[in-house]
Amino acid sequence: MKTRITELFGIEHPIIQGGMHFVGFAEMAAAVSNAGGLGIVTGLTQPTPADLANEITRCREMTDKPFGVNLTFLPALKAPDYPGYVKAIIDGGIKSVETAGNNPAQVLPPLKEAGVKVIHKCTSVRHALKAQSIGCDAVSVDGFECGGHPGEDDIPNMILLPRAADELDIPFVASGGMADARSLVASLAMGAEGMNMATRFIATKEAPVHENVKQAILAASERDTRLIMRPFRNTERVLNNAAVESILEKEKQLGDAIKFEDIIDEVGGVYPRIMQKGEMDIGAWSCGMVAGLVYDIPTVQELVDRIMAEAEQIIRGRLEGFLAA
Ligand SMILES: Cc1cc2nc3c(=O)[nH]c(=O)nc-3n(C[C@H](O)[C@H](O)[C@H](O)COP(=O)(O)O)c2cc1C
Repeated sequence: MKTRITELFGIEHPIIQGGMHFVGFAEMAAAVSNAGGLGIVTGLTQPTPADLANEITRCREMTDKPFGVNLTFLPALKAPDYPGYVKAIIDGGIKSVETAGNNPAQVLPPLKEAGVKVIHKCTSVRHALKAQSIGCDAVSVDGFECGGHPGEDDIPNMILLPRAADELDIPFVASGGMADARSLVASLAMGAEGMNMATRFIATKEAPVHENVKQAILAASERDTRLIMRPFRNTERVLNNAAVESILEKEKQLGDAIKFEDIIDEVGGVYPRIMQKGEMDIGAWSCGMVAGLVYDIPTVQELVDRIMAEAEQIIRGRLEGFLAA
């Protein structure tokens, strides 16, 4: 399939794997890129720019296809060394970067100078327009369904995607709630030129996470995610578990008086124990409603091939069939 997104990133299929903390290691990114999509190494999962440089080298040993790096700007007590990470990206020969969180203006000049294509992930049309105006090459439009941080506007993709199509000139991919060929074809119909998946890619054979994480996604229904940290205007969609129930209880009890320290045990630094040791109840971890559409744990290649084959069937069979009738 050819769209402005496949052309921009030099990939075969319009499918991107979104940055994922403690999932987006070289193994994940390489598997997606080898399957013809755009794999993304998650920059800040690497503790230092030197570690990111090593991870880029490792990924390059696993694939000769293009892959990208995610750079996330979220509230942090101590800001990461962004110039250092940008240097590791450029020196590592990376040509695609997914930015997310805040406005990426601070990293655009060196990235653009080095010929890196930047796709900014945002949860509203106004932020997408801002990204376009400061020179981003594409945007990833993340609907309310998404795992991770859906923002504070709560606009689902049935509205957000056509709204983005009405306003944007640069190409965009649909993100949040994307699982299969139906997601891809629907996104294309609403004006997107590809899709970004995160939660769905965790439930694959190659995802470098503990088996418990994959089984938790497989077992979850579309009703099993919760929104935490609303009082901090830093909302995160996570899979429900004992820690999440404890956070929500504290948010209810403490109301406006709640402070970040009240929930730090359940959200601070919990990812390695969840993703690598499989301790599923010790903290909150991002997961999309799309878990309800995950029925198996295929290889990434099987997943991507299935999506592309079924998308063709939907377009040529189901949709054209309606017109012929
Ligand atoms: C476990 C997990 C960790 C994530 N970590 C990040 C991250 O570090 N940076 C980022 O920009 N997005 C992160 N995301 C968000 C995804 O890149 C993507 O935007 C979102 O999950 C899409 O929704 P979906 O899960 O329904 O596919 C994460 C998502 C998940 C599920």
